[in-house]
Amino acid sequence: MRASLFLLALSTVVSAIPVKRAQPVNWMQANIGLLGSRPLRHIAIPGSHDAGMSQINGGTAFSDAANTQTQTLSINGQLNAGSRYFDIRPVITDGQYSTGHYSDVSAIDSWQGSNGQSIASVISDINAFTSTNNELIIINLSHAYDTDAGNSNYPIFTQAQWEALFTQLEGINHLFVAPNPTTVDLTTLTLSTFIAKSPAVVVVVQPDDSVDLGAFAQRGFYQYSQLNAYNEYADTAVLSTMESDQLTKLAAQRTTPDSSYFLLSWTLTQDTLEVLGLGDSILQLANNADPTLYTALPPKLSANTYPNILYIDNFQNDGKAVALAMTINTNFAS
Ligand SMILES: *[C@@H]1O[C@H](CO)[C@@H](O)[C@H](O)[C@H]1NC(C)=O
Repeated sequence: MRASLFLLALSTVVSAIPVKRAQPVNWMQANIGLLGSRPLRHIAIPGSHDAGMSQINGGTAFSDAANTQTQTLSINGQLNAGSRYFDIRPVITDGQYSTGHYSDVSAIDSWQGSNGQSIASVISDINAFTSTNNELIIINLSHAYDTDAGNSNYPIFTQAQWEALFTQLEGINHLFVAPNPTTVDLTTLTLSTFIAKSPAVVVVVQPDDSVDLGAFAQRGFYQYSQLNAYNEYADTAVLSTMESDQLTKLAAQRTTPDSSYFLLSWTLTQDTLEVLGLGDSILQLANNADPTLYTALPPKLSANTYPNILYIDNFQNDGKAVALAMTINTNFAS
């Protein structure tokens, strides 16, 4: 108890160094004078891992909140807390599109996982936010599985299942269509190109196999190569291992501001016992990892080396991730 109080006091002192004044909800627009002329590659933003999993709406026999819940705020809550990049994993369940968190558990040769927020509620959350905020929102779609097919082997989406999802996602207001939508590298566009006059929502599609965007490529949907992030998680439950893994990757990949777009995956992955309920839940792991971002990252930052996406589980409405992103944008990026 005394040790943890000491650590709490220490971390308060250390984290007091980089944190700037609290940012408003529309933090991009509020800082457009500083950020507007910069390409995305020269900007840091906060992001949410497995962003739809703040609720558990059914799932398989061996899944529960402890091994599938990654967030506690809804998409709208995360947007209001400052997150601007969302890892969305669409699944089909009972014929409807939902977010999900599933994996193939080889030990029992079975797919296991849960469903999170429905795609319909993700869309209404985004629209509620953009009705009052001119901000840029990036959605990254991946891990798309048809869970209605029986859990010995979930198939990935077919072309028709992707197209039906895109059609539903066209309910998102302010989908952003770039000047050369099928060839543009989105990381080279300035922030003002997206949000000078209105909010902007970009949907990036990362299929496990392939998908033809067809006409959707002219309507706000992009291939992952058009927002190609270096994105390699540590795949460990050990905090110190994850920290050194991610900071080493950052230093190796981001040697100049024009180095490839970089996602800092500040996330822990449960080990086998934890998945079985013997140990920390995903949210407990997140609560161990998240506070260390604010102390471990700042000493590694420079004008050449900084991440573009600060990617975390259990995104909180405490202003810290936005404050760190804006510290990077003010003191290191230019
Ligand atoms: C989108 O998600 C996939 C799967 O997690 C990942 O490989 C890819 O790097 C992500 N794209 C971006 C732009 O982060």
